[in-house]
Amino acid sequence: MGKIFFAINILLIFSALTAGNAAGQAYSGHEEARYVPTEANLASRQEFREAGLGIFIHWGVYSMLGDGEWVLNNQDIDYKEYAKLAGGFCPAGFDAEEWVKAIKGSGAKYICFTARHHDGFSMFGSEYTDYDITDAAPFGRDIVKELAEACHKEGLRLHLYYSLIDWGREDAPRGRTGRGTGRPEGSTDTTAYFKFMKGQLTELLGNYGEIGAIWFDGDWDMPEGYDWRYDELYPLIHGLQPGCLIGNNHHRNPIEGEDIQIFERDLPGENLAGYSGAQDVSTSLPLETCQTMGASWGYDIHDDEYKSAEELIHYLVNAAGRGGNLLLNIGPGPDGKLPEQAVDRLESIGKWMDEFGFTIYRTQRGDIPPRDWGATTRKGNRLYIHILDLQDDSLFLPLKDCKITAAQCVNDGKRLKFIQDKDGVLLKLGTVPDETDFIVELVLKQTTIK
Ligand code: GLC
Repeated sequence: MGKIFFAINILLIFSALTAGNAAGQAYSGHEEARYVPTEANLASRQEFREAGLGIFIHWGVYSMLGDGEWVLNNQDIDYKEYAKLAGGFCPAGFDAEEWVKAIKGSGAKYICFTARHHDGFSMFGSEYTDYDITDAAPFGRDIVKELAEACHKEGLRLHLYYSLIDWGREDAPRGRTGRGTGRPEGSTDTTAYFKFMKGQLTELLGNYGEIGAIWFDGDWDMPEGYDWRYDELYPLIHGLQPGCLIGNNHHRNPIEGEDIQIFERDLPGENLAGYSGAQDVSTSLPLETCQTMGASWGYDIHDDEYKSAEELIHYLVNAAGRGGNLLLNIGPGPDGKLPEQAVDRLESIGKWMDEFGFTIYRTQRGDIPPRDWGATTRKGNRLYIHILDLQDDSLFLPLKDCKITAAQCVNDGKRLKFIQDKDGVLLKLGTVPDETDFIVELVLKQTTIK
């Protein structure tokens, strides 16, 4: 069985790298390959753009230590000792369908799962290493496979997080982090490591059906300008699945071959977390902001900083108002269960999305940029004013040269009065809003607004 897999993978890599990507024709044959997204890719981008909400899952053997996904680095654990965790990894409570159903209930349209994080443990059965779920852990079940099946059954897209760095492999590039894990000081020959990554990416794109996106992370570990061989990795991915989106959390502007722009813990255009200083907001690519529900990405046993459902809904609305999706993270425990707080938040968000999701899904950023009081989204001739925090019972909207034909409060269906002149619209709310999100739907006569 293993040999057959191996042979198929080799064949897939070979054909993807040599056949001018016949499957996708995504890269021109010139020496400086220019990436032209295929129809399938453009369709995936559109679907992604319309999705509004995704759920990130950070889960691995690190979850057993309850100290986040960076524990190997942060506690300077010897990587050989750390690897022994795998021998006790048997998350009896893991049920992919239960996860996917809970996540679907939140209104999310996709899941991004950590197939392999910086600790190097593969949560899928890989022929390229024994340090994986099927060889090294008594659990023995291929988690990516079970998740992929459940996602496909429930109609959710599966995205896979894949780390470029590896704190355990001796052939991986030595960056800023993972210096205390006891690896011998850096060999600079990373040939075998890149071969390994390409082999694994080929498995991920060949063995689990349609994959919505590959989400790279760890670029920032090496000095700027380090050659991560994206000119090989990206065509490989698009060659295997032209519709698979490529995102890279490198904290810079998207580069050739990438299909989405990622912001970490920042809304597009913000730089509060300090990771987004070197990024402009792309006007052509779909945007995604990833954020934690608690304080940590991976399970942290001390995490008591879960954001309230209201805060999370506000974050989602603020992302949509900036034209981006929210990728909201959960760190399941060592037993394979989603933390209760996370299940609770998923339910609350789901209730809200059932009622008001139409003001988020398939919308674009609204005509009024985000303000202290909230954000706006737009669908056709409907402009949605999301009032999240306002102390007054009226609100002035600087909508110039635009005719509003009706205003209605979405929460209770009541028509609202408004006064309009050349400078904009004064909305009379009839009350000081105290809803999680007081939404006003404005019907516009024309869809272009100055
Ligand atoms: C950062 C962290 C990483 C996490 C990622 C999620 O890159 O280093 O642990 O997976 O953010 O956005």
